[in-house]
Amino acid sequence: MEYRKFYNGVEIPMLGFGVFQIPEYDQAKKAVLEAFEVGYRLIDTAQSYFNERAVGDALKESGLKRDEVFITTKLWIQDYDNAYDSVMRSVERLGLEKLDLMLLHQPLANYFKAWQDLEKLYEEGVLRSIGMANCYPQVLTDLCESFIIKPMINQVEMHPFFQQDLNLEVMNSYQVVPEAWGPFNEGKRDFFHNEVLAKIGHKYGKSVAQVALRFNLDRGVVVIPKTVHKERMQENFDIFDFKLDAEDFKEIKKLEINVRAIPLSLDDGSSGLNVIM
Ligand SMILES: NC(=O)c1ccc[n+]([C@@H]2O[C@H](COP(=O)([O-])OP(=O)(O)OC[C@H]3O[C@@H](n4cnc5c(N)ncnc54)[C@H](OP(=O)(O)O)[C@@H]3O)[C@@H](O)[C@H]2O)c1
Repeated sequence: MEYRKFYNGVEIPMLGFGVFQIPEYDQAKKAVLEAFEVGYRLIDTAQSYFNERAVGDALKESGLKRDEVFITTKLWIQDYDNAYDSVMRSVERLGLEKLDLMLLHQPLANYFKAWQDLEKLYEEGVLRSIGMANCYPQVLTDLCESFIIKPMINQVEMHPFFQQDLNLEVMNSYQVVPEAWGPFNEGKRDFFHNEVLAKIGHKYGKSVAQVALRFNLDRGVVVIPKTVHKERMQENFDIFDFKLDAEDFKEIKKLEINVRAIPLSLDDGSSGLNVIM
């Protein structure tokens, strides 16, 4: 496993397991247990995924020690006015005493107020680290200049079709660790059959999925792919024995189309207008 260190010293595994769109309890619990068996130690859930309890129960059943795993969840917008209590409900659903990382899911509504509650919970030791999701360059700059405690991470959509170079630059300049959601563009635009990624993979005996994950890892970006299939969990985990070279990066650069898999509510110059989960 490779790791990134937040500016507060907390380490995050660079490959995690996302559980978006697995709301059914048994399926989510099984997926998390299988991910643990494969070797994943970072789980990315959210209040809005409705599977925090399944994640917590899987962790209990796995027999893994608390300090062997890294649990992230996210606060949903409707609770921003009452963030402190809402975070404590997540802590309870996950069956934990403290969380490794809590994110505000969207920089929308009363997020400055919500962030102050996260800062308080961080100071109290309930949250080991705190961060944002879906902040694009202008918003991230504003937050980093305004918050007392800067976000430690920013989780945004990032993959070969939506590379976010400017956002990456801004995150790096503020020592905010970048994390990619939707590292496969959610499979959209025939992602897994992309010829450029397949050709690069052929050089290393790797799949399109593995090349896509390596693309982000090699830029210092944490990745959290989701799958409910154990053989795909294994495939997505088997990425630590190769690296992309400059020529590969040059080819992948040409795949940028600046279109999101899930449109965002903020105007950052890309297409789309809806709120994402
Ligand atoms: N902060 C946010 O706003 C936000 C938004 C979206 C997602 N996220 C987080 O990021 C995680 C990942 O993003 P995502 O779930 O949206 O999309 P993703 O990981 O880009 O893609 C998931 C899709 O790819 C398929 N897949 C996975 N591995 C594969 C492989 N090796 N070969 C072929 N198909 C494969 C999965 O199918 P099967 O499951 O059928 O295998 C699923 O349909 C989420 O689970 C969530 O934790 C955060």
